[in-house]
Amino acid sequence: MVQRTDPPIHHPPETRGSKWGIVLLVAFGAAVASIFTACDNSKNAVAPVHPETLDPTLVAQGKTIFRFNTFGDETYWTDTLHMNSVVQSGVSPKTALAVGLKVDMDTLPPAVVSAIQAGQVNLDDPATTVTLLKLGAVVGVEGKVQTVNGKDSLVSLGITCAFCHSTVDNAFAPGIGHRLDGWPNHDLNVGAIVALSPAVPAALKAILNSWGPGKYDPRTNFDGKNIPAVIPPAYGLNGVAKEIYTGDDTVSYWNAYVAVTQMHGHGVFRDPRLGINVSNGTDVVTPLLPALREYQFSLAVPKPAAGVVDAAAAARGQALFDGAARCSTCHVGTLFTDINSGRLHTAQEVGQDPGYAARSVTGRYRTTPLRGLLQHAPYFHDGSAATLSAVVDHYDTLMSLRLTAQQKSDLVAYLSTL
Ligand code: HEC
Ligand code: HEC
Repeated sequence: MVQRTDPPIHHPPETRGSKWGIVLLVAFGAAVASIFTACDNSKNAVAPVHPETLDPTLVAQGKTIFRFNTFGDETYWTDTLHMNSVVQSGVSPKTALAVGLKVDMDTLPPAVVSAIQAGQVNLDDPATTVTLLKLGAVVGVEGKVQTVNGKDSLVSLGITCAFCHSTVDNAFAPGIGHRLDGWPNHDLNVGAIVALSPAVPAALKAILNSWGPGKYDPRTNFDGKNIPAVIPPAYGLNGVAKEIYTGDDTVSYWNAYVAVTQMHGHGVFRDPRLGINVSNGTDVVTPLLPALREYQFSLAVPKPAAGVVDAAAAARGQALFDGAARCSTCHVGTLFTDINSGRLHTAQEVGQDPGYAARSVTGRYRTTPLRGLLQHAPYFHDGSAATLSAVVDHYDTLMSLRLTAQQKSDLVAYLSTL
């Protein structure tokens, strides 16, 4: 029997928190539930799934926060990194699109749309980027523009959750389209963007420039190591007990971690398990976490269009997944993860590099809830599998499955439907 003690982490409880009575009741229920979970030693018990019924008002508030709230991180991105000057002096829309930034076409006035279509907008001119920021059109980047001596000047810049966890559908042109919230932006080269700042020392620049698109290391600023992770989707998490690749804690724990320690928003984040204690001005993050959580839980999993996947092959693949290939021993139930039973896996058990997990709270890997797989290649925390075929090959070798070529392609077909 496992004795479970919850560490004193500074983050709000996973509740909506309208009335204290309800808060306490829910907290008590959660505590009891976690004791039962911790005592559950049965290996293949189907994970209890408790997708929550969501409150539409809170979801709507969370959407605004997810898309537009910088939590005051301009003090870092502007005052420390001077990214506003970097953008104003040298980042044309072409450069911005090349490092993976996305443009939300729904914010563009019709006149601007027709001007772009007619080739009358200079996409090589940083001033056009400033105009796009003024229109609020750059996904995940909030810029404040003031007119100084008749000229638009980018006086501040900050980032939001949408920076890494949203993309667009390219409806207008590559990189320009309708927002897709929760879809990880695997074109975004966060490291290359931050490395443009004159305030970044050379040693850190080398680390940042080594990441490449779609990856980010959320622990470098604490341990100086360079082990970036693939930006995961923020959709399909309703009912999943613990988040991130290493299952460290709840969604609100992680949201607070990123908002305060990575985006440098204003708030407090403490986790004695990691020796982290960051206090960054008056806390604006904590009150926003319940709505932010609600919005993430509302984000639907993208499914492939009808006919994209061969249904008969997928059905055969499902039988393998649940049978001979033994995938469902870990990818359990409708969420395809055993994390709700408290199970985690050593790097060795799942054939992954131990380095990333070693820096986390748990030191292990969470069975990733499989969702929207076709949307978000590459796979595994470090992107070591470029395709679903590579994922299947990985397990075939690891578990000595000896799958035939046909079985492998059937499994890929099934994974493509999740
Ligand atoms: C600079 C890029 C970046 C920004 C900005 C960012 N994230 Fe993330 N996010 C990541 C990376 C990388 C991970 C994976 C970390 C890990 O698993 O160890 C992650 C993990 C997550 C997860 C876990 C997904 C899962 O499968 O468990 C959620 C949820 C999430 N982020 C939501 C948010 C929210 C909400 C915000 C805004 C407060 C935010 N992120 C800001 C890069 C980012
Ligand atoms: C022993 C437990 C275990 C078994 C068995 C297992 N997985 Fe996994 N799976 C994991 C863990 C843990 C991860 C996360 C690894 C990482 O990110 O490095 C994972 C990740 C994945 C991913 C990547 C998801 C993403 O979004 O990056 C896919 C796809 C996947 N597994 C499919 C399968 C298939 C198919 C099988 C059967 C052939 C299988 N798994 C068997 C535990 C398991």
